Formats: sequence, C-alpha cells, structure tokens
Amino acid sequence: AALVARRASARARWRRVVALLREFEDGCATPTPRLRQVVDAMVVEMHAGLASDGGSKLKMLLTFVDALPAGNEQGTYYSIDLGGTNFRVLRVEVGAGSVVTSRKVEVTIPEELTKGTIEELFNFVAMTLKEFVETEDGKDEQRALGFTFSFPVRQTSVSSGSLIRWTKGFFIEDAVGKDVAQCLNEALARSGLNVRVTALVNDTVGTLALGHYYDEDTVAAVIIGAGTNACYIERTDAIIKCQGLLTNSGGMVVNMEWGNFWSSHLPRTPYDISLDDETQNRNEQGFEKMISGIYLGEIARLVLHRMALESDVFGDAAYNLSTPFTLSTPLLAAIRKDDSPDLSEVRRILQEHLKIPDTPLKTRRLVAKVCDIVTQRAARLAAAGIVGILKKLGRDGSGVASSGRTRGQLRRTVVAIEGGLYEGYPVFREYLDEALVEILGEEVAQTVALRVTEDGSGAGAALLAAVHSSNRQQGSI
Ligand code: GLC
Repeated sequence: AALVARRASARARWRRVVALLREFEDGCATPTPRLRQVVDAMVVEMHAGLASDGGSKLKMLLTFVDALPAGNEQGTYYSIDLGGTNFRVLRVEVGAGSVVTSRKVEVTIPEELTKGTIEELFNFVAMTLKEFVETEDGKDEQRALGFTFSFPVRQTSVSSGSLIRWTKGFFIEDAVGKDVAQCLNEALARSGLNVRVTALVNDTVGTLALGHYYDEDTVAAVIIGAGTNACYIERTDAIIKCQGLLTNSGGMVVNMEWGNFWSSHLPRTPYDISLDDETQNRNEQGFEKMISGIYLGEIARLVLHRMALESDVFGDAAYNLSTPFTLSTPLLAAIRKDDSPDLSEVRRILQEHLKIPDTPLKTRRLVAKVCDIVTQRAARLAAAGIVGILKKLGRDGSGVASSGRTRGQLRRTVVAIEGGLYEGYPVFREYLDEALVEILGEEVAQTVALRVTEDGSGAGAALLAAVHSSNRQQGSI
C-alpha cells in the first residue's frame, strides 16, 4: 500500500511540473496577432520618442551620424569595441572598397572593473590599446580611433556624448552623465598614446555603417548578443524633437535603445518579474530582458528552480538550481540544440554545470522544452521589433495599396545584424526568420534580407572614424 501511495504522489508531483510547464508556455505565447500588436506598439513608441525627449521609454537617441561612408575612405584606423563581456581592439584597413580587420585582440573584462570607477576601466582599455599599438611598426603618427561604446549615450557630436545610464550588468556610478569620449581621451593621454577618439558610436551604428558600406539598401542594424538594440536611418524632418537644431536636410542614424522598449502586449510571466528583481537596473530594459544573451539562461533557470521546489524532479539537487545566473545562455543554446535521441548533451550539461546527477529522459525533455520556450519567445519578439522599424519606414508592405505600387515593386531592404544569439544559435535564427515571414507574409518577407556583418560594430566604428577624420566628400544620407 505504501508503494502505491508513493507512486500516486510521484504522479501528482509530475502533474504539477507539467502544469507549471504549460502555464509558462501559455504565458510566453506569441501568436501572430500578438506579434502584430507588438509591432504597432513599437511604431507608436518610435513616434513618441522622436517627438520629445522622455516622450517614450524608447529613447530614440541622435547619433550625429548624418553621413555614411561613401566608399572612398582610406587609411589605417584603430577601433575599440566595449560593451559586452569581452572588449576588442581592432586595426582596420580601409580602402579600395573594402574594410579589413588586419589585427584583433579580444580581452575579457575583469568583473570588478565593471563595477569600479570609470578611470580604472578606461586605464585598462587604454593600456590594452597601448600594448596593441606598441607591437606595430612604431611610427608615432596620430591615428584616429573609432570608439564603440555600447550603452545609451546622449551624443553632443559624432565624437562626444555623455552616458545616460549603464545596462547589461555594468554599474560604474561615477561615469553617469560624463562625456565618455573625453574620459577615454584622458586615459589615452595618461598612457602616453598619440591617439584620440574621432567617432563615438553605439555598436548598432557601427554595424549599420559597415552594412551600408557593402550594401546601400541597408537601412537599419540590429544587435542580438549580450544585450539587444537597433538603429536605423531616419529622415531629419521626422526627428521632431530636434527641429531647427539639425541643419542637414537628409537623414540621420537614430539609436533606438530598443532594449528599453515596453508595451503591455509583451508576454510577461512571473519569472520575468523575478529576473527583473535580481538585476541592478530594475524596471529598465524590459524588452532586452526577454531577448538577449545575458538573461535567457537565467529565465530558464528560474522556471526550473520553481519546478524543483514544487516537485522532486531534480531530487536532492534542487538546491543547485537556486543560484542566479548559473545557467548561461550558451548552455541554454547547447541544451536546445541537442537532438540526440537520449538527449545525452542535456544530461552532460545538467551533471557538469548544474551538478544535477543522472536525470531520466522525461526530465531532460522537460529541461529542453523550457529552453525552447525561452528561445522561441525571444526570437519572435526580436522579429516583431524588426518589423516595427520596417513599418515605421514604410517598408513592411502595408502601404502598398495606397501608394499605388504593387507588391512586386517593393523596394529591397537590408537589415545588418550582429551578435552571438543570431550568429551562433541556428534555432534562434530559424524562429526569428519564421516569425518575420508570419508577420510580413511570404512575398514581402522576400524583399527583406537580414545580413550578418562580421565585426561590424568595431570595424564600422573605424570606418566612421575614417569618414569624420577627413574632409573628403561624404555620402550624406
Ligand atoms: C544594450 C545597450 C545598447 C547596446 C545593446 C547591444 O541594450 O544599452 O546601447 O546597443 O545593449 O549591445
């Protein structure tokens, strides 16, 4: 009788787990009509953010990039790319219609530097650049530097701007409100380097510059990596909040900072609220926290932890699921990618990384399903964001009837895209592409190309440094 009772209670606990899974799945659901609502909310917020500062959670920041490379730039430039877990120093050769990264060094930023002072962080950056430069031929000519700084910055020119606030786990209080280009120039001078910042750009803007260099139909850029964001080319007269200030009659790249986008149409679950509570930037970057690399693994861990607490699926190892951020997004991706019949990779990851000893197949399937739900929601929401931009630009096909154009005459549109999630996680990419087709329809989706740029954020900054350090004719936009 005891055995029967034990079995019955085990079945009841498993039912509870399945119920939690269903609840989570429903909470994350993104059927096409809901994605369309997100698209429309994005467009509304874009308008609001362009109308006035503080008009929307979407900051729609000016970049002062009103000229993109024309193709005749030349020279050797350095670039520093700071904004994720790693930071990169690049030497970039620009000329003859190509941009080539001729040397690259990638360094992991020591965790303590992301929470210390700006002087410490930038001294580290400057010293790394100095070592990089010193191994070269030693000519001490002043070089222009493209500085990719991937945080929200209120630009005052193409080469200066103050930090609005930190995102992605960085938290260096004394830097907020300071001109980050000036801070870096000071650190460069301290280290004795004859280099100065000529272009201060967001990673999205670097990516757009490089994408546009190779393909003039590129009108927007999206990053889906540690964080997520997008920028696009806006008509100057649509940037209402700056009327009179901007003299160029053409266009300007606008950094949306879409990571901070919010709408009641976003499928928010209790786990998203728990995640938000764990972060230093609570109530900020809501869209980013559903989409990008820093957070996806953690959402899955929160779900699995709750399951562990309410059942015995993970046995005595339940406790091992209680530490925040132990399930990284690369692990989540590896779990989702495992298509072996017995999910042996899932087993290995659970054992080695989460210290959960041998799990039955049905538990491994459960873990894989949780990772799938998190991935799918992220990718589909990113797709809705992209369509939001296309719609704002009138390139989503919805205006065809009124414009008198047929669908067949729709302009080709290229979106430059970069970041580990899109590039290194095929399942994510498939979900994103699939959602684009669902929202846009097959025919319109065929006119939209997502194009991966390699090192675009860094090399694009070097390219913009080239544009802005010379007086040569620029291709205005
Ligand atoms: C965060 C930053 C943003 C950056 C993005 C991708 O959202 O605030 O500036 O572009 O991450 O790196």
